Amino acid sequence: MKVVIPVAGVGTRLRPHTYSMPKPLLHVAGRPIVAHLLDPVVKLNPEEVIFVTGFRGPQIERYVRENFTFKAKFVRQDELLGLGYALNLAIANLDHGELLVVLGDTIVDCDLSKFVAAGDYVLGVRKVEDPRRFGIADIKDGRVTRLEEKPAEPTSDMAIIGLYYFRDLAQLKDALDTHIRSGKKTRGEIQFTDALQHMIQQGISFVPYEVDGWYDCGKRETLLSTNKHLVATIDQRPEKPGVVVVPPVYIHPDSIVESSVIGPNVSISAGSEVRRSIIRNSIIGANTTVENMVLTDSLVGHDANLLGTVQTVNVGDSSEISGE
Ligand code: G1P
Repeated sequence: MKVVIPVAGVGTRLRPHTYSMPKPLLHVAGRPIVAHLLDPVVKLNPEEVIFVTGFRGPQIERYVRENFTFKAKFVRQDELLGLGYALNLAIANLDHGELLVVLGDTIVDCDLSKFVAAGDYVLGVRKVEDPRRFGIADIKDGRVTRLEEKPAEPTSDMAIIGLYYFRDLAQLKDALDTHIRSGKKTRGEIQFTDALQHMIQQGISFVPYEVDGWYDCGKRETLLSTNKHLVATIDQRPEKPGVVVVPPVYIHPDSIVESSVIGPNVSISAGSEVRRSIIRNSIIGANTTVENMVLTDSLVGHDANLLGTVQTVNVGDSSEISGE
């Protein structure tokens, strides 16, 4: 089986982090997003993983080649014309065979071997509160009957989560070709969802597969809640003298933490040093120094220096000093 992972986006909603680092390499629970995404993919023992890269693609390629042993191919997407366009580039040289598509910023709790065994064409879905932000799937009698990308008036609350399986990719290739040649765009882009809807109209039947957990990494708040979930699954209980750990947390063994209160929901990546600080609900990237800081709900990148101040005061009775 081949796996396609499109990761060409610029990650606008995660600026300033994505000015220097492509989104898939931002850390969550001590590792890059793409590492979490690849964990279940690796278990499938894929024949080849094809990454569609654009923005800061070489950084992604270097990370994957240094940390994974599967056969990897990197296809460059220069024009950000939409997911349908990206997928078309990825499979341009393939004619037949099994294909799994995993969108690049979504971490799922899902046994992918069960996912691919669910049918010939399988679509990952999950019930959501606001379907207008997603592609949605109408489902009837255990089959997907219609797909629509980010509709203003959704007819279903089942969102497309970004996991797609094709027992044979030939029909998909035809559908993408036809769709791209038609010139049709939705919301200004060549949508993958539109090509899949074309397949449904041609009589292809997709099995909907509801995943247990779906953890978005698209913006700061969702990255922090994904971190919260993942550190709880790691459930590491580090013991460090002089440090109060409030679980769940993940503190990389190659980091230094001293005289601090860490947690809950904190991850500290390799090479970082934290001293005299209180940190909760935050992500601290790699090789970063945090001293004399009180942080909450914070996203700190790699190689940063956060050095707070220690005050000396000589304050008399009935005085007030407030940081609010
Ligand atoms: C893409 C897909 C959409 C899907 C979503 C899941 O949209 O086009 O159908 O629901 O991923 O995250 P994007 O988030 O890239 O706008």
